[in-house]
Amino acid sequence: MLAIQGIAEAGSGHPGASFSAAEIMGVLYFHKMKHRPSDPLWEERDYFINSKAHSAPGFYAVLAIAGYIDTKEIKTLRKLGSRLQGHPVRYSERQKNHSFPGIEYSGGSEGIGLSVSIGIALAKKRDGEKNRVYTLIGDGESNEGQIWEAAMAASKFKLDNLVAILDRNKIQQDGFTEEIMPLDPVRDKWAAFNWNVVEVNGHKIEQIIDALSRIEKVEDKPSIIIANTTKGKGIKHMANSPQWHGKAPPKKHVPILLEELQSEILIAPSIIAGEPENYEEKVRRAERAGADLIHLDIMDGKFVPSTSFFADTIKHLRKISSIPFDAHLMIEKPINHVEDYIDAGCDIITVHVEACNETEFVDINKMLLKAGISSGIAINPGTPFPSWLIEHLNNIDVMIIMSVNPGFAGQKFIPDSLDKMAEIVKILKSNNYKGFIEADGGIDATTLQQVFDAGARIMVAGNAVYGSPDINSNIIQLRHKANVAIETKLLELATINDMRSDWTKSRKNMLIPLAKELGIEEDLHAIK
Ligand code: DX5
Ligand code: ZN
Repeated sequence: MLAIQGIAEAGSGHPGASFSAAEIMGVLYFHKMKHRPSDPLWEERDYFINSKAHSAPGFYAVLAIAGYIDTKEIKTLRKLGSRLQGHPVRYSERQKNHSFPGIEYSGGSEGIGLSVSIGIALAKKRDGEKNRVYTLIGDGESNEGQIWEAAMAASKFKLDNLVAILDRNKIQQDGFTEEIMPLDPVRDKWAAFNWNVVEVNGHKIEQIIDALSRIEKVEDKPSIIIANTTKGKGIKHMANSPQWHGKAPPKKHVPILLEELQSEILIAPSIIAGEPENYEEKVRRAERAGADLIHLDIMDGKFVPSTSFFADTIKHLRKISSIPFDAHLMIEKPINHVEDYIDAGCDIITVHVEACNETEFVDINKMLLKAGISSGIAINPGTPFPSWLIEHLNNIDVMIIMSVNPGFAGQKFIPDSLDKMAEIVKILKSNNYKGFIEADGGIDATTLQQVFDAGARIMVAGNAVYGSPDINSNIIQLRHKANVAIETKLLELATINDMRSDWTKSRKNMLIPLAKELGIEEDLHAIK
């Protein structure tokens, strides 16, 4: 959101790379790297060398959100005298008007950053220092011979404190890499240069985190993560399109683009649904089918009539999958059990307002935040929104607004929960809630758009996914409905802002397959 505002304001810049490398840079600065925005030259810091420098708007956005600069400064991108130049400038007293502390490397002409990284890594290793060096490189950039000279040198010096991350979005400047200068088999190439090679989905944060922690155990070898990404991912008409390598969207589109970026829908299959148990298989199949989360309904037979599974089962499932676990605790006295679910490897832990008072919730919340786990709160259909929650909204990442009475999968969606959801969303927005609304209960192809319009962005789906054998097409159908819901909303926004035809034109390729469902066949006709 920050990057696209800067690019639109400047009227130029690189949305494609800023978006394809977003998760990579986000994980490094918000999870992995040792660094201090308040002390950018901290001796023990890890180094991030952005050799793929045209991803500058995304890079500046990450540094701004991390606290190196004020986020407002993004609006000066590419302006004369701005510290946010089109390609980053390494900070120094001499360059202080064109850079800011935290930028370690002057990029632009590509192919050089890996060599600089080797210099830093070798120096630190020879001085017996523990700093690590992370280098972002591109696949277009890999046409540069210097990359491969550097690759040889890094393995010669056994630089196990160096990690390169290849933003493998298969597009460069004006076309597709494999048409311009084929890079594949890229894995084999790096392995042949004696590097430890790991391949991940570059948009799956859990896979990037997993790869980075495994790499830390590798000795005497530099490592590279081949991160398979999509250029421009996040804005559908920019995704996987060379024309959005270095082009800015019209400023008037920004409100719609920001809405799109906040409309991403996450699908969370609930594994208690469908055939009894067989949880392992259900998790594997959902992950293969592209689910974003796994929804785990823990039921103790007291808070709700039925019993499901507990922390030991989750511990076992954690071993077979890295997909984020969204644990929904429908148990009494969750304060007495939350530690078990932390140990079991849950990524989100949600307790019910009906099962704990404010003090207990605050204690649970503190434990979760300390453990780096997202804290959630769930509200049953019959329970009014408790005002005491408002004070804690900053520490809540997920709010489940139940649309069935808890206890079973396969129940009918309670229509009244839509008004309740919209009501609560109003309260949350006016109190600056930054987390997610999760819809749980009776979510399927007929109800998804309604809860999306009411504000939900995480969709729990039990029966809709596991109620019939073909899990793959069940999830595809939900994603399709999600797509229709999002495009409808964006079209409405474009119409309200009096730019319906302009928006439809720029979005044509995305809209044609949905024309009938969106009722815009005439709009598309008129464009011709
Ligand atoms: C109900 C659970 C839900 C349920 C969802 O208490 O919290 O997660 O399993 O299943 P469906 O989507 O079938 O309603
Ligand atoms: Zn649930």
